[in-house]
Amino acid sequence: MNLYEKYILPPILNCACGLPLLKSHRKDIVLRAKGSVLEIGIGSSLNTDFYDFDEITGITGLDPNKSLLKIAQYNNSNLPDKIHLTGGTSEYLPFPSNQFDSVVVTFSLCTIPQPDKAVKEIKRVLKLKGDLHFCEHGLSHAPKIKRLQRFVEPIWKPLAGGCHLSRDIFRLITDGGFQLFDHETIYATGVPKFVGHLYKGSAKKID
Ligand SMILES: C[S@@+](CC[C@H](N)C(=O)[O-])C[C@H]1O[C@@H](n2cnc3c(N)ncnc32)[C@H](O)[C@@H]1O
Repeated sequence: MNLYEKYILPPILNCACGLPLLKSHRKDIVLRAKGSVLEIGIGSSLNTDFYDFDEITGITGLDPNKSLLKIAQYNNSNLPDKIHLTGGTSEYLPFPSNQFDSVVVTFSLCTIPQPDKAVKEIKRVLKLKGDLHFCEHGLSHAPKIKRLQRFVEPIWKPLAGGCHLSRDIFRLITDGGFQLFDHETIYATGVPKFVGHLYKGSAKKID
């Protein structure tokens, strides 16, 4: 991790990802989680407020960025028994197979370097009837926006910690062996369209 990623990016991500206009989108998805939950790329733990703690037994939050995990620890200081934070990458999840009832991922499949590998790992650690719940941003299907995304991406990516603008999130998830349900794409209000094209939904494992 370079100095930018260690010291400058974490507070920027905490503020940018914490924008109030994203809250309702996070809530829609995070409320769906049940049982034992794994949140990958948890960052500074901006989803904590949206979990229904009556429905879940605990949350394991994983992220490779130690500086973000420190902010997450601070953000969760009133919930020490509910959330367990751990370092690690989603491409190599340090958990046995068939362990979690729900996996949650928000605004991280854009950044994870090998997202196809991460989706396969998510499938492995989910129980047979477990669900993946996601709220991500990615490739627009409007030709003008798509062109802009591809033009801006090389400048955007290093500034935003490796975030891609042009990943097709539904495709990534279905190619990884999941069937989508309750899903939609939508532009987040108040966010430029090249970065605000959201993919929201849930997905079940298929054999
Ligand atoms: C834009 S932030 C989103 C954070 C958080 N999920 C949220 O919704 O606010 C992207 C996150 O992906 C994490 N990340 C990067 N590479 C990763 C990897 N290989 N596995 C898991 N998370 C990763 C980053 O450290 C960062 O926390």
